[in-house]
Amino acid sequence: MKSKLFYNQLYTWYEQNHRILPWRETQDAYRIWLSEIILQQTRVEQGLPYYMRFVERFPDIESLASASEDEVLRFWQGLGYYSRARHLHQAAQMVVAQQQMPFPTTFDDIQALPGIGEYTAGAISAFAFNLPYPALDGNVYRVLSRLFDCEIPFDTTAGKKHFRQLAYDLLDTTNARLFDSAIMEFGAIYCTPSSPECAQCPLQAFCEAYAHHTVELLPVRKPRPKIKDRYLNYSIYIAHGQTLIQQRQGNDIWKHLWEFPLEESDHLQARTNIPHIDFTHILSHQRLHARFFIYKVEQLPTLSGTKVVSINDLDDYAFSRLTLRALEEWLK
Ligand code: ADE
Ligand code: SF4
Repeated sequence: MKSKLFYNQLYTWYEQNHRILPWRETQDAYRIWLSEIILQQTRVEQGLPYYMRFVERFPDIESLASASEDEVLRFWQGLGYYSRARHLHQAAQMVVAQQQMPFPTTFDDIQALPGIGEYTAGAISAFAFNLPYPALDGNVYRVLSRLFDCEIPFDTTAGKKHFRQLAYDLLDTTNARLFDSAIMEFGAIYCTPSSPECAQCPLQAFCEAYAHHTVELLPVRKPRPKIKDRYLNYSIYIAHGQTLIQQRQGNDIWKHLWEFPLEESDHLQARTNIPHIDFTHILSHQRLHARFFIYKVEQLPTLSGTKVVSINDLDDYAFSRLTLRALEEWLK
């Protein structure tokens, strides 16, 4: 894979097809940094006019450092994720205070600045200084997952580690600026998420996903947690102003909160002649279907693990929001 022919194919494609973007026409680390921060959560077309206005008003890191935060935020207005702008301003002030102008020149010094993670530090190191670091953005993850037919989810700790290794293995260490630009652009405009033109692809001969017909299945993300339905049948026993409650144990929702005696099952139960109230309750990954049966009795039953409490003292115990909803409904 790491062959002259591979790089030739990639670089020839890049020379002939890349978009002309102002931050690619410069090796000024300050401007490259600014573009990377803008493009972190923003599409190129939306970010471009902000970049142009920003570099006109703040042409170098000293002018940014000496501006007020208010003014910097005004130039950011409409881009969203305003912590990016605050970090940008703080980083500029740090660089000036530490006499690192016009910009720090090593990966570690760059990554130490506020708002700069591994991706951005790699991108600035390579684009500005041609240092041998990869820059794994979403486009690069997609290209790598396909070239290596790798179905490890890239958005997990283990996946990031694996893809970082692939990226280092593939990196053209003496031409990191060109390599990172080319593979990123290739992912952005050729090896796109759906229906890339594999039949004409200049990297087809190197692409394991193409050979194995898995292109459309890649990249793989970690599964979104599926919403799980649970069915909770609660029994509220009431005898002479007293009721039964129990404390939740185990590694589950509402650990150590109190609740009424519970039977969890795969459906809501029907109990003849027992009145009930129903609630649906949504948690982040669970949909709870709860039924509260109400037993007015002469004597509380003996149920292991439960505790007899006065209804007037229920305020002394911590309940889930679901149980509080039922209490409110039932006590009103
Ligand atoms: N997205 C992030 N960095 C970029 C760059 N240098 N060019 C185009 N899109 C990008
Ligand atoms: Fe991407 Fe298709 Fe080219 Fe493989 S063959 S690198 S999937 S465009």
